[in-house]
Amino acid sequence: MPATITAIAAYLPEKVLSNSDLERMVETSHEWIVTRTGIEERRMAHDEEFPSCMGAKAAARALEKAGLKATDVDAILCATMTPDFLTPSTAALIQSSLGATKACCLDIQAACSGFLYGLSIAKGWVESGMYKNVLVVASEKNSAFVDYTDRNTCVLFGDGSGACLVQPSGKGYEIRHVCLGADGAESQLICIPAGGSRRPASANTHEDREHFMKMEGKEVFKHAVRRMEASAKECLDSTGILEADITWLIPHQANIRIIEAISKRFNIPWERTLRTIHKYGNTSAATIPIALAELDEHNAPQSGEHLLLTAFGAGLTWGSSLLTKV
Ligand code: ACO
Repeated sequence: MPATITAIAAYLPEKVLSNSDLERMVETSHEWIVTRTGIEERRMAHDEEFPSCMGAKAAARALEKAGLKATDVDAILCATMTPDFLTPSTAALIQSSLGATKACCLDIQAACSGFLYGLSIAKGWVESGMYKNVLVVASEKNSAFVDYTDRNTCVLFGDGSGACLVQPSGKGYEIRHVCLGADGAESQLICIPAGGSRRPASANTHEDREHFMKMEGKEVFKHAVRRMEASAKECLDSTGILEADITWLIPHQANIRIIEAISKRFNIPWERTLRTIHKYGNTSAATIPIALAELDEHNAPQSGEHLLLTAFGAGLTWGSSLLTKV
């Protein structure tokens, strides 16, 4: 039985952080942010709203769409690089919020590629017959790890979540293939230096602002384009689907210029290249399920249409997936 996404949903916090808000916080301008990144605004979770809460909301919506009870969920995978806690897992907290008492729970730390890593695990579990109902959730509260005094990073990120249900068959999006990759040798390009066991929290790490995300943007940009192109090509080659057969491109939403490069490389018309970056910024692992949920709701892809998903993030990690509407 081919693993199929039978329901997909998203949740975005209500609060909006606009470019003009950021102009009042750091030395930047709406024009610079829009020209260099394509971002106009992003969402921010409130103080008492965490990845588990946002993830549970998206997951509950997906279950409702599928008409499945929480108690029938076999497994919950949560892709997040901004977990509620280092331990316990955010997936376990989501399980409790949903009342999915039968589900096993696991967090995935592959940064912005995490949703595709999750999809790959869900596909394996479902197709092996091990589990029937797997929730793949991606949920991020990036605002908790962004340094709002650092203009290089604070303009880029937003909060939000997406979730999908993966089952052995049914109407939805058949997961034809997922290919994944990583290069730990370049791990220093995007990192949160302190707070792990290598550099536990201390007065010094706090003072040096080492609990915030650091990124060498220019270098990351080059890797992102190269790795997403190569993995998307590998994914197409593995399935035998031609570039001309792709109906929708759903790329990770980190920078509009990266999205343009990938779209041009695969000759996908701009109107068929999904973009949410202008309104949500980079929600890390959640960008792809949020975009897919919006596509599903507003454009209703037709049976037989092919969707190419591709992502890149800290690790470095990357991945691509080919879905076919069934
Ligand atoms: N406002 C105004 N000026 C700024 C800002 C800002 N917000 N940020 C940087 N600048 C300045 C820089 O200081 C620099 O000034 P200088 O020339 O005087 O030194 C100038 O603008 C150019 O800076 P660059 O870093 O070269 O700008 P670039 O065009 O590369 O854009 C950006 C930066 C947006 C970060 C881009 O490099 C990028 O998108 N990188 C990839 C991000 C990505 O793909 N991330 C992957 C996933 S993230 C994850 O996994 C967590």
